[in-house]
Amino acid sequence: MSILNILTYPDPRLNKVAKPVAQIDARIRTLVADMLETMYDAKGVGLAATQVDEHERLLVMDVSEERNEPLVVINPRVVWTSDDVVLGDEGCLSVPGFSGDVERYAEIHIEYENELGDTHKLEATELLAVCVQHEMDHLIGKVYVEYLSPLKRGRIKTKLIKEAKEALKDNES
Ligand code: NI
Repeated sequence: MSILNILTYPDPRLNKVAKPVAQIDARIRTLVADMLETMYDAKGVGLAATQVDEHERLLVMDVSEERNEPLVVINPRVVWTSDDVVLGDEGCLSVPGFSGDVERYAEIHIEYENELGDTHKLEATELLAVCVQHEMDHLIGKVYVEYLSPLKRGRIKTKLIKEAKEALKDNES
């Protein structure tokens, strides 16, 4: 297994739209294992394939306290959403050091395949519901900062571009 590089906003590769996973095979299972390792290493609750520059409909999550309930979601399909919405403070491994308020469905039901190709249904509420919507957004090339005000988004963008340039300079010297 290996830890993958996580793309940082505003990298344009984060805006690519992922294609469905055509075949759940050894290559996909390796990607799943690497993504789980990368997510746990980064102390995140979710990671979409898009964030590691793999543009297939695949995401991993773990919202448990003990960090021992990995959830692998391949080719997710939304089957139901609640009328209720919730406003919550969200962060993202691709937007380090920031968070912002985003409105999401309070409950969402999805169907998906796991890494063995079995079809499952997930009725997600609370943090898991938010996480599912956040990660599924990644798969259509959408980062949560797009829901924030242009002012706040601009501040985040400027700061992260500056940090990336400084990191590049440190690597060169
Ligand atoms: Ni994210």
